[in-house]
Amino acid sequence: MAAPSRDDPWSVVNMVDLSPPVDCSKPYDTSTLVGKTILITGGASGLGAAFARHWAKHGSHLIIGDVNDRLGEELVAELRSMPSVSPEQVITYQHCDVTSWTDQVALFQAAVSLSPTRSLDAVVAGAGISESGNLMDSSPSATLFDRPPATIDASTPPPPLRVLAVNLTGVMYTSHLALHHLPRRPEPSSSHQEDRHLLLIASIAGLIPLPGQTEYTASKHAVMGLFRALRGTAWTTTTTAPRIRVNALCPYFVDTPILPRSAIAVLAGAGQTDLADVIDAATRLVADAGIRGRALLVGPKVRVVDGTDEALGPVRVVEGEAWRGEEERRQGVWDVYGHDYERVETFVWRYLWALNMIRTVKGWTGFVRDLVWACFYRRGTR
Ligand SMILES: NC(=O)c1ccc[n+]([C@@H]2O[C@H](COP(=O)([O-])OP(=O)(O)OC[C@H]3O[C@@H](n4cnc5c(N)ncnc54)[C@H](O)[C@@H]3O)[C@@H](O)[C@H]2O)c1
Repeated sequence: MAAPSRDDPWSVVNMVDLSPPVDCSKPYDTSTLVGKTILITGGASGLGAAFARHWAKHGSHLIIGDVNDRLGEELVAELRSMPSVSPEQVITYQHCDVTSWTDQVALFQAAVSLSPTRSLDAVVAGAGISESGNLMDSSPSATLFDRPPATIDASTPPPPLRVLAVNLTGVMYTSHLALHHLPRRPEPSSSHQEDRHLLLIASIAGLIPLPGQTEYTASKHAVMGLFRALRGTAWTTTTTAPRIRVNALCPYFVDTPILPRSAIAVLAGAGQTDLADVIDAATRLVADAGIRGRALLVGPKVRVVDGTDEALGPVRVVEGEAWRGEEERRQGVWDVYGHDYERVETFVWRYLWALNMIRTVKGWTGFVRDLVWACFYRRGTR
């Protein structure tokens, strides 16, 4: 049984409002960034700061939250001094520990009140940390999840799970607040864009395991789970306000402060990701309102050749000799779940069909019997 096409009215792809896989060779329009109010968590350093520099140049208003106040204030001063940034642009920093619900509520409230339209256009959940130490490291300062203390008894504290707190709980708080604030309409008098976007910063560790970064890998896999769930439902938050798009970015290693020295050492001789590619992929996702529910992996450029797949038709496949060869045959950005809904659709469709069939066979008698049982007799499995 062939997977239903996008033209099929029963297609799950259409039901979840998923756009086609992203073709990163196509240009996109950055003029949509002008006047957008964008909130970035973890924006004082690394990728978040790089996004802020780029989007400030394109006329966006930026509200940056982070725990590194020195870097946050320095970044704001730097952005304000850029000749391409106008005095009318809102560029601001506020202390925000993403693991604190009240900090995040305050950050979103500040962003809305500072925004010229009193509303948010885009949110980037970027704050993140990694585990310190490496698998050879048994020093007390190492916080690796898979290096428990030599003795554990009732007085031993639980593992701190700080990475999960920042990378998962923090991102869940950000997403929850984004779902609340993004659909709010701007003040009637303001000229506003209808696009609303939540960008989750996951990682290559959301797709494959990073040995020695167990907690980090778990947190980023969870962020991808969050992305896959939200992309199918976020747009249903409201029927009257702008729909929310949810996309994810999965960078491979980029040389920022989050990378422990051991990671840089392990990568010796291997490829690293161009920061410019990460900025470009994130900007495409934020700027192009037509991209809905997609995840982009950004890695070292590899050589690609055109091929054909029986089911998918023309495809680009990776060949050896990574990061050599002509520029136009090299690709660093990939749509991660290019065809997952089409691929799993047959299963989903059959499964739902089977569940509906059970319902039909049981009929009203079965419905009433199940209801009475649930209300009066159910005790739950013990
Ligand atoms: N650099 C890479 O190789 C790479 C690869 C894949 C994914 N990522 C992800 O990109 C995101 C940004 O990382 P980066 O590479 O820019 O590293 P970074 O360390 O430069 O930036 C992370 C930022 O998060 C902030 N932060 C940490 N804990 C926080 C908290 N509790 N509340 C608020 N802010 C907090 C830090 O102060 C810092 O400014 C992270 O989610 C990271 O997991 C990075």
